[in-house]
Amino acid sequence: MKPKPMTLAIAAAAALVVRRAMRRRIQGSPLWPMPALEPPVSGRPRSRALKLLVTAHERIADGVVRVRLEGHDLPRWEPGAHLDLVLPSGLVRPYSLCGDPEDTSSYTVATRLVEDGRGGSREVHEQVQEGVELEVRGPRNRFPLVEAPSYVFVAGGIGITPVLPMLRALPEGTEWRLLYGGRTRASMPFLEEIEKLDPDREGSERGRVTVVAEDEDGLPDLDAFLAGVPEGAAVYCCGPQGLMTAVEERLPEGTALHLERFAPRTTAGGDGEFEVELRRSGRTLTVAADSSVLAAVRAELPNTPYSCEQGWCGTCQQKVLEGEIDHRDELLTDSERGDSMLICVSRARGERLVLDM
Ligand code: FES
Repeated sequence: MKPKPMTLAIAAAAALVVRRAMRRRIQGSPLWPMPALEPPVSGRPRSRALKLLVTAHERIADGVVRVRLEGHDLPRWEPGAHLDLVLPSGLVRPYSLCGDPEDTSSYTVATRLVEDGRGGSREVHEQVQEGVELEVRGPRNRFPLVEAPSYVFVAGGIGITPVLPMLRALPEGTEWRLLYGGRTRASMPFLEEIEKLDPDREGSERGRVTVVAEDEDGLPDLDAFLAGVPEGAAVYCCGPQGLMTAVEERLPEGTALHLERFAPRTTAGGDGEFEVELRRSGRTLTVAADSSVLAAVRAELPNTPYSCEQGWCGTCQQKVLEGEIDHRDELLTDSERGDSMLICVSRARGERLVLDM
């Protein structure tokens, strides 16, 4: 029997009411919006998460462990790339890849135990072990090896990890020099391999390696090492903030300097309170002077994606619809800065921002 027109009309009206109620409920949920509903604004696809098995966890220097994670058909990477590890506690930490970029069945990272750190390195050292499955994101590369007539590398301690695959990848005959410093020789990972890359240590055909162990040699003489940076050379530095600042200060203006920062240079708070409207969620928040946009947003939308909280991984990037942005990161490109921000560190220049979330 065919339903009567009146019955159909009542059913359609009921369905509409239910649909509207559901939409209101979803939009009122703290889970909405789940990670950005739209493609990332940067044009960088959000990296897919992978579950990989830890198949090696070994001490390779004082306070340094190397971790190998195995999987199948893994995304390829270029020297300088890093991987975000999601640790058992949920902390997400970036580690430079230091294995073979051609190997699509495993990734290798190394990490130094930071005694007074925020807990990530201790977890890698003490809780990650063979047989554990870890989620990883990436690889991503914000420290790529650019083409240059010659190269100068400065690495401090664990900062050698992104540099090592670069050295391996340089074509035979490339002019390069490396200054590798550490507190003691025993604490410097990959030292043997690094020294083998330059067998005669005094200006071989491939390049030149200067190793400085502070307990034997004192502090590295940066002035002397950087005095002869060839014109047009690309200079790469990874290590403690003090080392990177010292290198930056010593190079002539215009030098192509590439820095790998794994520590914040800026603080998330500062310069007063402002309002943030989350347009799609229909909410307006206040960001306190001593807090970040990310903290305020996560209080309302706990599933907002983030990782480093220091302005270098890009996970928290959000599209900005209105308002002037005070960019405090060193990651976004100029075009990205036009309509997006990293909400973990950047703030409003005025009194209000409108985000597309
Ligand atoms: S969370 Fe990494 S840049 Fe904001």
